[in-house]
Amino acid sequence: MDIAIDTSKSKYHVDENGYYGRFGGAYIPEMLYPNVEELQRRYMEVLKDPAFQAEFEDLLKNYVGRPSPLYLAKRLSEKYGAKIFLKREDLNHTGAHKVNNTIGQILLAKRLGKNRIIAETGAGQHGVATATVCALMGMECVVYMGSIDIERQAPNVARMKMLGATVVPATSGSKTLKDATNEAIRDWINNPVDTHYILGTAAGPHPYPDMVARFQSVISEEIKKQLKEHTGNENPNYLVACIGGGSNAAGTYFHYVDVPEVKIVAVEAGGKGVHSGFSAATTQLGKIGIIHASKTLLMQTDDGQIVEPHSISAGLDYPGIGPMHAHLFESGRGLFLSATDDEALAAAYELSLLEGIIPAMESAHALAKLKDLPLKPEDVVVLCLSGRGDKDLNTYIANMKK
Ligand SMILES: Cc1ncc(COP(=O)(O)O)c(C=O)c1O
Repeated sequence: MDIAIDTSKSKYHVDENGYYGRFGGAYIPEMLYPNVEELQRRYMEVLKDPAFQAEFEDLLKNYVGRPSPLYLAKRLSEKYGAKIFLKREDLNHTGAHKVNNTIGQILLAKRLGKNRIIAETGAGQHGVATATVCALMGMECVVYMGSIDIERQAPNVARMKMLGATVVPATSGSKTLKDATNEAIRDWINNPVDTHYILGTAAGPHPYPDMVARFQSVISEEIKKQLKEHTGNENPNYLVACIGGGSNAAGTYFHYVDVPEVKIVAVEAGGKGVHSGFSAATTQLGKIGIIHASKTLLMQTDDGQIVEPHSISAGLDYPGIGPMHAHLFESGRGLFLSATDDEALAAAYELSLLEGIIPAMESAHALAKLKDLPLKPEDVVVLCLSGRGDKDLNTYIANMKK
């Protein structure tokens, strides 16, 4: 497994100072310095350790159920006129890609001698994946979640509680992911010694974006092998993923960013329309600034106040974007598109009927842009189906046409 691969020659991976181009870094309050500095110092040494890699690999295989299939979606392919493969992260234990990262981070936390875990969650998938690994390792788990998300992702709240986690509502701001992250950071400041913060996406202070991307890089490592078996070529023409903070996308792109013939497509949440005032399309609307201790693109007013985001999908409802993706956008390496709430809903119903797969609302945003790509019949597309739609059934039922 290549989670500790040397990326120092790449223009698109993190540099030795924790930056991607002009994005990234660690803009942390002084109280957090010991924790973040310890992670910066130790994470690569731990990831390189063969015993760590063996334990990570064993759990991914025997507990998560990896490798996840790369499925040629024939009826979807017919509809869009290209060969479309779905990377089935929805089939992982707990129902999304998030568990790849929580397995990695809980093993790291154990090696750092921590016994209390905190996390933030939007859609609840990262919260469930964190509660799951805490149960597995017998560790205390506290999950912060916006009070709006607690309502719209109720099944996941119940799962977290059943797994033994304490779910704490975040009631400030838009009462969504950004606010939950603020609360988690506040907790970490107050509990610096025994607590590890399992951040759920490729955002936050260095080394989180790189560390999370490495734990998720198993996605592109598998795609390479599986696509070669299917087509004889490990490189697709297009790689498509949705972006909240950017962890499923980072994992999908990780081993491909330096392969120029592979087009990278990122899909953000357009909400009710990019310019409607109700959107989370960060690269379209954002400017450089600092959010959750990282210098990146974020939606803000002229005087630097964060603009409250909106998306029908809790996992994409975030006013920033991880620094790797801000750099992929600014450098032109990635094509950044946005899908509205309605487009994503239509794509979710379509995949259900064409392929018998009910996707997560987040993944449905990526599916929604297949119609906007200039696809040719010989093109090979790999789309990361980041999660399953069970948690979104209430939203799907509420929006179903009679
Ligand atoms: C199924 C699913 N896909 C995608 C995301 C977005 O997160 P990220 O951009 O970190 O992959 C989430 C977040 O909760 C999710 O649950």
